[in-house]
Amino acid sequence: MKVAVLGYGTVGFGVVEMLKKAEGLEPGPVLVRPGKDDEPFKVTSMEAITEDPSVDVVAEVMGGVEPAFSYACAALKAGKHFVTSNKALVAAKGPELAKLAEENHVAFLFSAACGGGVPFLHNLSLAVQSDEILSVGGILNGTTNYMLDQMQSTGMSYADALSDAQKLGYAEADPTADVTGLDALRKIMLACAVAFEVLPVEGLLHEGIDSFSAADSSYIQSKGFACRLIASGGKAENGSVYAYVEPVLFDSSAAERSVLKNFNMAKYNGKNAGRIVMIGQGAGRWPTASAVLRDCSDICSGRRIMMKPSCKAGSADNSACVHRYLVRVPADVALPLPIKEKEAVGESCYLITDAVSVQAMHEAAKALRENGASVFFAAIGE
Ligand code: HSE
Repeated sequence: MKVAVLGYGTVGFGVVEMLKKAEGLEPGPVLVRPGKDDEPFKVTSMEAITEDPSVDVVAEVMGGVEPAFSYACAALKAGKHFVTSNKALVAAKGPELAKLAEENHVAFLFSAACGGGVPFLHNLSLAVQSDEILSVGGILNGTTNYMLDQMQSTGMSYADALSDAQKLGYAEADPTADVTGLDALRKIMLACAVAFEVLPVEGLLHEGIDSFSAADSSYIQSKGFACRLIASGGKAENGSVYAYVEPVLFDSSAAERSVLKNFNMAKYNGKNAGRIVMIGQGAGRWPTASAVLRDCSDICSGRRIMMKPSCKAGSADNSACVHRYLVRVPADVALPLPIKEKEAVGESCYLITDAVSVQAMHEAAKALRENGASVFFAAIGE
């Protein structure tokens, strides 16, 4: 099967190089920006791909919703299978693309959009065929895991850790989505869509690591904790779907602490299978390209569906999710939540809350920040 590639950046280059050596696959034309078509295999118009009968699969690795969405629609309508690593695209337009793929009898697969090289969505979409999925989630952003690992193991500053993650090709072109938790949120949205046939687009909550300081790192380590950014999704007892991202503190017994550098730890809990855990590189050229190639090989084997065409956009309900939190606020600021413990450190105060809802914690932090307060919070892992 010939695979056309949209985009020739970090991942696009990796995909083309891997296609040259892959069994049953070969590289086709590569779509680049006008002026960048300095080699014969590079094209600058999508028509050169949709009108090329030798192209079987279109692999999109450009990122962003537009023009990726228009290109995806054009590819599917032209009868080409469509594979993408673009979580922003699938989080915004997944159900539409799943329906369009079904109407045109072609595949729409996006394993590379969540977990980098980890075959998370691949395995999850197989598991849903025979098991009931209860929850999904884990460490789903390689950039922030790399940064947290560097800050906590070497004392590196936040700015240096981010700069390294960018140089290593882990971060998005604009790393805001990584450090604010939005990238991990998009990934948990996709996992919910695959697992529960609901793409939650409202009621979502995300807190990243952009408030985590070197002082916070020292404080939590002095208490025996390490911090990881965790995405959580699942089905509540009333049938609603929950989905949120926030920093979580783990004690020395937690497996999450062994997840270092750009690695991800993706999990699902099946009613029959129980807890399944997958660990691997969650970002970077070769891990992500390997996931794109895996989807292409899956198409060769006859796989067509990752998100069911019946999947609908819906709301998340995080009101029943409850944790205790460690919160850092300025010493003269009161946190409007039930407090169990309090310790002043310089001009800050570290608090431990009673069990409170995720919703209440995120809203309290938002209100304090709107009043100019610097706040860090993390759930205490159970
Ligand atoms: N910026 C993303 C991450 C790339 O760091 O996880 C892989 O999705």
